[in-house]
Amino acid sequence: MELGVCYYPEHWPKETWRPDAVRMKALGLSWVRIGEFAWSRLEPRPGVLDFEWLAEAIDTLGAAGLKVVIGTPTATPPKWLLERYPDIYGVDAQGRRRGFGSRRHYSFNSPSYWRESERIVTLLAERFGAHPAVAAWQTDNEYGCHDTVRSYGEHDLREFRAWLKRRYTTVEALNVAWWNVFWSMEVNSFDEVELPNLTVTEANPSQVLDFYRFSSDAVVAYNKMQAEIIRRYSPGRLITHNAMGFFGDYDHFKLAHDLDAITWDNYPLGMLEESPLPDALKAHFLRVGHPDLISFNHDLYRGVKRAPFWVMEQQPGQVNWASSNPLPAPGAVKLWSHQAFAHGAAVVSYFRWRAANGAQELMHAGLNLHDGSPDRASQEARAVADELAGLTPAASQQAPVALLFDYENLWATNLQRHAKAWDYWAIELSYYLALRAFGLDVDIIHPRMDLKGYRLVVAPALHLVDEALATHLEDYVAAGGLLAVGPRSGFKQPSNIVWAPAPGPLSRLMGVRIDHVDALRPGISGSVTLGGADFHYQTWADLLSPTTAEVLATYQTPAYAGVAAITRQRHGQGACVTIGPWGNPALHLAIFSDLLSQTGLPHDLLPDGVRLTRRGGLTYLFNFNPHQAEVAEEAIPPHSVVIRAGVDG
Ligand code: GAL
Repeated sequence: MELGVCYYPEHWPKETWRPDAVRMKALGLSWVRIGEFAWSRLEPRPGVLDFEWLAEAIDTLGAAGLKVVIGTPTATPPKWLLERYPDIYGVDAQGRRRGFGSRRHYSFNSPSYWRESERIVTLLAERFGAHPAVAAWQTDNEYGCHDTVRSYGEHDLREFRAWLKRRYTTVEALNVAWWNVFWSMEVNSFDEVELPNLTVTEANPSQVLDFYRFSSDAVVAYNKMQAEIIRRYSPGRLITHNAMGFFGDYDHFKLAHDLDAITWDNYPLGMLEESPLPDALKAHFLRVGHPDLISFNHDLYRGVKRAPFWVMEQQPGQVNWASSNPLPAPGAVKLWSHQAFAHGAAVVSYFRWRAANGAQELMHAGLNLHDGSPDRASQEARAVADELAGLTPAASQQAPVALLFDYENLWATNLQRHAKAWDYWAIELSYYLALRAFGLDVDIIHPRMDLKGYRLVVAPALHLVDEALATHLEDYVAAGGLLAVGPRSGFKQPSNIVWAPAPGPLSRLMGVRIDHVDALRPGISGSVTLGGADFHYQTWADLLSPTTAEVLATYQTPAYAGVAAITRQRHGQGACVTIGPWGNPALHLAIFSDLLSQTGLPHDLLPDGVRLTRRGGLTYLFNFNPHQAEVAEEAIPPHSVVIRAGVDG
């Protein structure tokens, strides 16, 4: 468990580098990330390279005992490069070419950009790959930030057509897969396929889903290109990329495949402000963020590689980019840092060393103020370093519960929400919240990953399914697993057309047929009886017709009173529970209380805002409330964490 910081030597006079490095080390930091936006200083004019300043910065940081992460500078191609190759610019969904003057102004499908990226990454990796202070690399910066995964230009169209040809081989197969007979959308050659933007009304969802897959694959391929170059010239160094919270425009499971570790950028207050949580919760967690919004991302990024992750950028104070930007509570930075380690982070690195004196982020805090003197977070970072020195975590265990997450299900269901309040992130989060409220540790993993050892596997909306996935899940259940599937599961084939009847190949496991769904407008509720008590739900209800399953709960909603809402089907040594209704926290708690009782896992409800995490033989009790909390015979002060050696039941 180590700490680090993001540093921009190119922003500051050289004389400050050494004292900065010495102070970083004195604060207890081990890592420093540099370089990721510095292209215009590394290559000020076409072919004119200036790597000397970077070499000096790396030497200086290394001499102070810091391990350096070099970020490749490809998130910010310089103006001269765009002047030379204007085809680098991405094009937005309205068909407008994106402009110069911020960052990420490139399309992943521009051949010039691939070539130029290969060139600059190769030059950097050749020059610094073997430097003893260089211990890791970050490819680019936050792929997709500012809505830049999907681009709608000429190169994007050409590559999309080529991608489709590889996927379907014949245009007839594409027409069938997309159900193009509808509205006379059939095409006679791949060259007739268009991008799914600027259509009169919505484009064909099968086409859009494939465009999302294609765009995601382009990010994965571009990243792989960078990673392979770095691996060639910098053997043994860790290669990573910094992902974002609640960002799903590319498939992170696929991206992580080509990396040694995934990292993500944790901005709890910005994330809370921009979240769909109710205002009352936003007010309650104003200065520390919501614990589950943060840890959902930790658990997901630990799951995408099933390995320790890093927080490459940890909020150290105010951010500049949310709709309002409150000052964090004293202790928040400590709380966030320990929370990351509790959820499996290997490194937490603060963004940034010193607040920027100009440009877009001048209102963003750092560990130091604009004048270079320590800001509040410096002291907290120092305290974290001291506290980490006193902890000796053991090897980490698999969590008892897995929550299944699939970017393709995110794309497919959010493309056809059908109810305004439907959101794949929201349903994932609602189940996660219930599990965390009961004190359970959760691994967030892909549905096709190995499920062995989980006492409970939860699939909130397993929308796109095929035979292989159904068999994989049947094997888990047959061997004694408990699988809970939520609404919209088994509805579609991978090409985004329906299974008739639903839930397709999941019918055997679920033991139900689903012919009707209810999609409610905000403010409208339905009701359901579960275990003798009545609950409300909002947004969504799958109406279950049991074929072989037993009924655990029934709807009372007048339009379909008496219809099955929750069912259970035994299969081999285990069982599959199907959950029809969604959208109400009290109902989710009741459902998960029942499910957890079936597993025999202890599940005492924690006080609101208190969270329990067990990792590496340590038990962490977090209090995210602005008031003291009592739990497990412990009084936890506001906004703080208690760490105990040993794991409580
Ligand atoms: C991240 C980004 C950083 C910086 C930071 C500000 O999204 O990677 O470069 O912009 O946000 O919070």
